[in-house]
Amino acid sequence: MSEFRVNVQAPSNIALIKYMGKKDAHLNIPENSSLSMTLKSLCSLVDLQVSFPEKGQEKGSIRWVPEAPDFRWEGLDPQRPLLVPPLQGHGVSRVIQHLDRVRSVMPEVFCQFGLKMDSERLKNADFRVRTANTFPASSGIASSASSFAALTLAMAAACAQESSAFQNAWISEPRFKRALAQISRTGSGSSCRSFEGPWVLWQGEAVEGVEASRMPPMAHFVILVRTEPKKVSSSQAHAWVRTSPLWKGRVDRVEQRTEKMRAALAEGDLSTVARIAWTDSWEMHSLFHTCAEPFSYWEPGTIEGLHWFAPLLQESSPPIVTLDAGPNIHVIVEKAQQQQWRDRLHRCFQGQRILEDEQGTGASLIRISEGAWTQ
Ligand code: PMV
Repeated sequence: MSEFRVNVQAPSNIALIKYMGKKDAHLNIPENSSLSMTLKSLCSLVDLQVSFPEKGQEKGSIRWVPEAPDFRWEGLDPQRPLLVPPLQGHGVSRVIQHLDRVRSVMPEVFCQFGLKMDSERLKNADFRVRTANTFPASSGIASSASSFAALTLAMAAACAQESSAFQNAWISEPRFKRALAQISRTGSGSSCRSFEGPWVLWQGEAVEGVEASRMPPMAHFVILVRTEPKKVSSSQAHAWVRTSPLWKGRVDRVEQRTEKMRAALAEGDLSTVARIAWTDSWEMHSLFHTCAEPFSYWEPGTIEGLHWFAPLLQESSPPIVTLDAGPNIHVIVEKAQQQQWRDRLHRCFQGQRILEDEQGTGASLIRISEGAWTQ
C-alpha cells in the first residue's frame, strides 16, 4: 500500500459588508456583494492522508478522524492550542460530502489549468481527514469559513498527479486560486473569502482581492461576550431575513455601500470604512430582530459594548467595529496602535476574554509529503 499526506492551513475572515440572504441555497449564491478582511492565525489546519490499498482490496472511503493534525508551521503562534471541532453526525457528513464533491469537480478545473488527475485511482483511495482550529468553537469566529477553505485546498492538492505542478498553479495563477474559492463556496459560502487577503470582495460567483495599498496594516480583536453555541444557525438566518420589512431595498443599499467601501479602501480612508462597517453590521442584526419570527444574537454585554464603541467612531483613526452572526464584538484597528488598543480594551472589558489576530493573506499549502504519486 502506498500513501501520502497533504497539510494545509486556512484562516477565517470577518465581513465588513455582510453576506446575508441566498439567491441559490444549493450553490450558496449570495443575494448581495460582501467584503471582508482575511485573518491570519485564527485558522483551521487540515491533514489529509491518502492511501492506495493493494489491488482487489480497495474500498474507496473518506473518513473524518477526531484528532488534531500533528503538523505545525512557522505562521502558527505556538501558544495557540489546536482544538478539534466537536463534530456530530450532520457536521461530519457535511465535511465528507464536501471532500467528495471537491474530488468530483476537480478534473474539470484541472483541465482548465493543464493539471493532471487520475480519477479512477482516486475513486478507490482511502482518505482520512484530521482538522483542528486555533480558536474555540462558538467564539464568534467563523470556523466554517476557515475549515471549508482548508478542506477544499487539501482535497484539491491531493487530487493532483504532480504535486509540483499543483503548487506552481496555486502560487502563480490567481485564477486557479479563485476557481478553488468558488468550489469552497458550495460547502460554506463565506469560506470563498479565505483564499486570499487581506481585503476580499465576493460578488455572485466571483471572488477577488480588493486594492487597498493605502490602508495601513490592521490588527484584529474579538471581545468574547458569550461562547455558547448559537441557537439560530447562519443557514436559518439566511432564509429568515427575507421576511423582515427591512429586507426591501437591502440589496441596493449593500451594493452602494460596497462601492463606497471599495473607494474608501483604495484611498486608505479608515473613517469611511469604519462607518460603513458599523452601519452594515447594525442592518444585518436589525434584519434578525425584525423578521417574521424575530431572534437576536445580542447579549447584554453586546449592547453595553456597542454603546461604548459608538462615540469612538468620531475619532480620527476610529476602530472598525462589527458583529458576525453572534454576540461577540470584532474590533479592527491599525496595527501600529495594537498595544494601545490592547490596553484600552482590557481596561474597559475587564474580566472578558479577548482574542487577538491580524490581517492575513489567505489559505496556504504547507506540505505535500514526498512520493505523492510515485510508486
Ligand atoms: O457562510 P455562512 O453561510 O456561514 O454565512 C455567514 C454569514 C455571516 O457570517 C453572518 C456574514 C458574512 O458575510 O460572513
